[in-house]
Amino acid sequence: MSPSIDLAVVIPTYNEKDNLHLLVKSIEKSLEGCSWEVIFVDDDSPDGTAAWVRDYARDFPNIRCISRIGRRGLSSACIEGMLSTSATYLAVMDADLQHDEQLLPTMLNALKNENFDLAVGTRYMPGGSVGDWEENRLKTSQFATALSKYVFNITLSDPMSGFFMIRRDAFEANVRKLSSLGFKLLLDIVISSKSSLRVKEIAFNFKSRHKGESKLDLRTAWDYLLLLIDKKIGNILPVSLVSFGMVGTLGVAVHLMVVRFCLTALELPFPQSQSIAVVIAMIFNFFLNNLLKYRDQKLVGIRFYSGLLKFMLLCGIGSIANVGIASYIYQDFGHWFVSVFAGILVGFGWNYGATSLFVWQGKKR
Ligand code: GDD
Ligand code: MN
Repeated sequence: MSPSIDLAVVIPTYNEKDNLHLLVKSIEKSLEGCSWEVIFVDDDSPDGTAAWVRDYARDFPNIRCISRIGRRGLSSACIEGMLSTSATYLAVMDADLQHDEQLLPTMLNALKNENFDLAVGTRYMPGGSVGDWEENRLKTSQFATALSKYVFNITLSDPMSGFFMIRRDAFEANVRKLSSLGFKLLLDIVISSKSSLRVKEIAFNFKSRHKGESKLDLRTAWDYLLLLIDKKIGNILPVSLVSFGMVGTLGVAVHLMVVRFCLTALELPFPQSQSIAVVIAMIFNFFLNNLLKYRDQKLVGIRFYSGLLKFMLLCGIGSIANVGIASYIYQDFGHWFVSVFAGILVGFGWNYGATSLFVWQGKKR
């Protein structure tokens, strides 16, 4: 190996241990003659992925592992891996053998000798394919692709691809503008660079996952939406506030609908209607918040119900704080709007902080 490393292949992992042997062997084979390293960025996978890599790395120093504890996220994992190397070229690929590692030398050549900044493995060009995807996943992917192309005027055929290679200087020029949310790092980079990068698209066949299961779920779709919002208005509003606000607004909408239904269809008195609505809105918010967690952080089975109980108790305290603060301010200042707003702010703040601390405190491993 020459002293300087040309290419770093960054591979995010979450429960991928059973794929790694074959993956590493395939990469070693296809990069023969190049100077390279492979950096796995693992988010404390319960299956022992990180331990496997470290074990393997004892004999192969050009393989290493970054372990992140208590954190999750594909894009942020890739970014950390990319920032941890001094290689001139940075590739990103899945650990499950879906991406064609034999394309790595072609990508490297495009950046090294053909003056491109970014090489993208695309499924949506002649010669490429999505493999054996179900109808649903194909439709969702096509819709998500069309949405980003429309909103951001992107010409890339496959901005959702998780398989690409970029020059380190091009990456570093844009890294501070990245949102690092969710799965779509390539899209994040392309939008952040304002399409100033010279891109080469290379068709490939997206294979089926070797072992294990995909981590794509509702949370990923939510993160994707937040990424688009952040890229559009992130300089005006922090996206975490937008996200919290969106969930809260849906809760308020449910609350209003239930009150209306109780008053008009069931003809219940207002206090009963309001009480029923409070409980249903709480359950709805709990359900939605739980749905938007990473799969391994979701509460299921008995933990779902004990979580719901805790959530309702904590939000109950939040409501008491809300009314208490609002009444106190109203007494002293007499301004109803300011009082209501202060009450809501304190209640929301408490609910958010307390429930994330005590309801979804993360599984003990
Ligand atoms: N460190 C870390 N943290 N790695 C993660 C996490 C996480 O929270 N979530 C997923 N990964 C790793 C997986 O272990 C895998 O190596 C890679 O990221 C991609 O995840 P998959 O679960 O295999 O995703 P996919 O195959 O369904 O989606 C892929 O294809 C999409 C194209 O439709 C990804 O490459 C997407 O980025 C891509 O958009
Ligand atoms: Mn995959």
